[in-house]
Amino acid sequence: MTSDSSAPPERSVTDEAVFHHRRRFLAALGFGSAAALGARSAVRAWIERGEVARMRPRAPLAASAHPGYAEAGRPRSAESDVLRYNNFYEFSLRKDRVWREALDFALDPYTLRVDGLVAKPGAIGLEDVERLGLEERVYRFRCVEAWAMTVPWIGLPLARVLERFEPSSEARFVSFHSFHDPSQAPGQREATYPFPYYEALRIDEALHDLTLVVSGAYGKRLAPQNGAPLRLIVPWKYGYKSAKSLVRITLHRERPRTFWNDLEPDEYSWESNVNPLVPHPRWSQAREVLLSNGEQVPTREFNGYAAEVASLYA
Ligand code: MTE
Repeated sequence: MTSDSSAPPERSVTDEAVFHHRRRFLAALGFGSAAALGARSAVRAWIERGEVARMRPRAPLAASAHPGYAEAGRPRSAESDVLRYNNFYEFSLRKDRVWREALDFALDPYTLRVDGLVAKPGAIGLEDVERLGLEERVYRFRCVEAWAMTVPWIGLPLARVLERFEPSSEARFVSFHSFHDPSQAPGQREATYPFPYYEALRIDEALHDLTLVVSGAYGKRLAPQNGAPLRLIVPWKYGYKSAKSLVRITLHRERPRTFWNDLEPDEYSWESNVNPLVPHPRWSQAREVLLSNGEQVPTREFNGYAAEVASLYA
């Protein structure tokens, strides 16, 4: 996300695509026997299984599939890829290292605070959030760095959580704050970035039915590296709006500042709706690489959710 040489977005996407498609590239170039390529792929599968086996087991989480979002028009990403390719700068700037650094991360005891312009400020525990009624929704997810995944999230519309705290009619914006615990997060100890991570939405975006708080994926509780215990998912915006490991939500009259927009305003807009026609200053947003199979596909306006959300921006 940054101009820091340790995290060059274009290169990570290209590397990933090359990694996943080395077989195809080599075969196309006429290198390597089928047997050698097969052996390499078996080694990769073996490494993948070993890495996933090192992660802590996660409790099953049951939810009925939302009929409108039972599928997302493209194959679901492999769970093993979603678990091992992450952006979570509190743990590492390297996507393949986040899960290792976050292996034992936990917020326990956990509560989510909701305050600001609400009639009943207070806190809510994870189980109380889940008791409001979990559903599974398969959403497309588009990172600003031009990689994309498709994930069966388990959660519920944020609106159902917020209504318990009775938002005031004066609230026009909602901010989201991630955890802060340098004892657990190496990136917070190094303090390279102004943690805790903070993001925000307009109130109509926050209350939109597509906007979820999520505590699970793939039929289980969220893994630490994916934002346990509770994260935001806003599928028509670039992934950095979907803040992880939330501890506080605040309703405001004035527009709150946001993490990446504060750091690099020319590169990361406050609104951040997915738009293939507006290039990032350092790369095109016209196409995206699918995690898992490395296929390049055209990016769609609002990440393909225009029918649901375009009217918000009329
Ligand atoms: N939330 C926090 N707290 N810290 C982060 O670094 N990265 C964002 C978003 N939420 C981030 C975050 C970005 S840039 C992306 S693309 C997604 O998380 C990645 O989510 P994933 O790792 O579960 O795929």
